Amino acid sequence: MEILLRALKKIWLLRFLRRIYLASTYFNHKYIQIIQWGFNSNETSNFTYQLTQSNLNYLSFTVSAVLNENYQIVRKYIDEAQNDAALREHILETTRNSSQRKFADEKILFGRRLGWYAFVRALKPKLVIETGVDKGLGSVLLCAALLKNAEEGLPGKYLGTDINPEAGYLLTGRYAEVGKILYGDSIESLSKIEEPIDLFINDSDHSVEYECREYEVIQKLLTKRAVILSDNAHVSGSLADFSLKTGRHFLYFQEEPENHWYPGAGIGISFSA
Ligand SMILES: C[S@@+](CC[C@H](N)C(=O)[O-])C[C@H]1O[C@@H](n2cnc3c(N)ncnc32)[C@H](O)[C@@H]1O
Repeated sequence: MEILLRALKKIWLLRFLRRIYLASTYFNHKYIQIIQWGFNSNETSNFTYQLTQSNLNYLSFTVSAVLNENYQIVRKYIDEAQNDAALREHILETTRNSSQRKFADEKILFGRRLGWYAFVRALKPKLVIETGVDKGLGSVLLCAALLKNAEEGLPGKYLGTDINPEAGYLLTGRYAEVGKILYGDSIESLSKIEEPIDLFINDSDHSVEYECREYEVIQKLLTKRAVILSDNAHVSGSLADFSLKTGRHFLYFQEEPENHWYPGAGIGISFSA
């Protein structure tokens, strides 16, 4: 038997087929997930999913390292966001009543945005900006974090930008008390802002040039402790380049979605020591 197996291994075609089979086992389950998703989801872009438990741990460690904050505290913020019953109810109710509901799922899965939430909770920013809001899932989550900060005596406000006049429908109710959306081209909206920025999240036009221009426009407004997050860092090196040019540190966190075909995006993180 041993001799036969060794002889078979010498045949190139058999080796080829075995190697192709081995490599395909890493991806075949994705096709099953794609078909399940095709039937179970309404989403057409900006897909939502849960992150695996180990990925949430790594995300907590990443935020903890960037802000020099205790891991347990950061992890508590992430759990706080996931267990916020009022926020979940608000998102479900607003989605059900929206004309856009045929493109959304009645599930609340924040993915990497949980990292954004933890940054707001740990950094206690006075001003958070998110460019590109889509439905407003990041907007309400960031505003929920700002409301918690305000309960602790450290208030802040949120500004979102979007070129689509129908974007941001989730940002209503008490969440809209601490945040608003500036409609129009993001660069134009950013050019009019004069207040210092503590947390800036880039998630609008995902071309490399546009992303660079956003950083250039807000550069002069960044506070000493400001953190910049890029939602485009899995495809563009713009934030890493900006960090190099301006003497800032840069880290990248890669998402690992649970039970979803999407390979995951990431968070590019630019910060000062
Ligand atoms: C990926 S989505 C944003 C997702 C959102 N941050 C979230 O957490 O779900 C990108 C958004 O950017 C907006 N956008 C694209 N180009 C833009 C521009 N030049 N100025 C402002 N918004 C833009 C789109 O309308 C879209 O809603």
